[in-house]
Amino acid sequence: MTRRTVGIAMNGVTGRMGHRQHLLRSVLALREQGGIPLGDGTAVLPEPVLVGRSEHKLRHLAEQHGIARWTTRLDEALNEPDVQVYFDAQVTPARYDAVVAAIKAGKHVYCEKPTANSLPEALELARMAAERGVKTGVVQDKLFLPGLRKLKRLLDGGFFGRVLSVRGEFGYWVFEGDWQPAQRPSWNYRAQDGGGIVLDMFCHWQYVLRELFGPIRTVQAVTATHIPERVDEQGRTYPATADDAAYGIFELDGGVVAQINSSWATRVNRDELVEFQVDGTEGSAVAGLRRCRVQHRSVTPKPVWDPDVPSTVDFRAQWQEVPDNHEFDNGFKHQWELFLRHVVLDEPWHWDLLAGARGVQLAELGLRSAAEGRRLAVPELRL
Ligand SMILES: NC(=O)c1ccc[n+]([C@@H]2O[C@H](COP(=O)([O-])OP(=O)(O)OC[C@H]3O[C@@H](n4cnc5c(N)ncnc54)[C@H](O)[C@@H]3O)[C@@H](O)[C@H]2O)c1
Repeated sequence: MTRRTVGIAMNGVTGRMGHRQHLLRSVLALREQGGIPLGDGTAVLPEPVLVGRSEHKLRHLAEQHGIARWTTRLDEALNEPDVQVYFDAQVTPARYDAVVAAIKAGKHVYCEKPTANSLPEALELARMAAERGVKTGVVQDKLFLPGLRKLKRLLDGGFFGRVLSVRGEFGYWVFEGDWQPAQRPSWNYRAQDGGGIVLDMFCHWQYVLRELFGPIRTVQAVTATHIPERVDEQGRTYPATADDAAYGIFELDGGVVAQINSSWATRVNRDELVEFQVDGTEGSAVAGLRRCRVQHRSVTPKPVWDPDVPSTVDFRAQWQEVPDNHEFDNGFKHQWELFLRHVVLDEPWHWDLLAGARGVQLAELGLRSAAEGRRLAVPELRL
């Protein structure tokens, strides 16, 4: 097999997402499998150049994984002649400047969500990329989760009849950091550092709802900062200035009503950390990260409300598991493969910076809706 390398400047690879999902499970995993076969005897081999702030951490990471090139200077990485793609998984507020630099250097861009801290910035990035003719991609990993792919299969197969509503529950308890260390970075709880669950999760709910059920037309949200004070990585107490829970209602084109609760201050009594129940005229489904269970109209039991009698029915047992019927690869890796094929072969792709801006738009409108106590229209975004 002939190898065709694509240099990728990878920024933010010492962070949670950049390290585990993007470097280890995607780019290095693709290298280990011999690249992405193009079907004509050639394979695309991603060639990472690590970029970051800490020389010590980068050197260690590079040595650990046999990566030849790393630098603490973004311009240096962008000047490497074989680097075609810039990837960004830095903290959100650092993204805009770095992506602008990459676009100006003529590099294709692939980055984490949210693409920017504000809608004007997110749109500006999308416009700038379009003007300069570079290809762009934004991580929309939830679409590639096995549970949601099974849900998509059910939708495509017409299982639901007319979809009526979607109810999503996302969340878990994030420790405050005092008596047990927090399992998420402290910047997530500071609005001034790009934190907040609305900015984090509404970006995801935007593309999940749009791609599976239809574009979002209105949003109404109530947000809360349930835990007002937390303890950071250095053991210092800090005020939580960002929302740690959001209770959202979204009306979709075509009439589907979606409700999604997102919380870092809830304890899990579900089978998975995120679950969506979809109710349709012909059947219902509950999809999580990996599993998806259904109940068809033909086997729907007839519960009768009677609080005086203890329930003897195991409601969950009345649902049927949707089989895998397919081997699901890591979702981040899958999307990387599609993006690199788009870069190299010009294959169709629509998860670009404009799609990323839609996520930022929904987050901004969600926060405004909560602040003003109003339901707000979500206009269709254009470049
Ligand atoms: N797709 C997803 O499911 C998903 C999940 C979590 C986070 N994210 C996104 O990925 C990005 C990174 O999140 P994370 O959880 O990996 O964060 P993290 O704190 O673990 O990592 C942040 C990275 O940014 C770098 N960085 C650059 N400038 C920085 C600065 N001024 N302060 C602190 N760090 C700086 C850090 O060195 C580190 O490499 C965020 O934009 C976040 O929204 C996406």
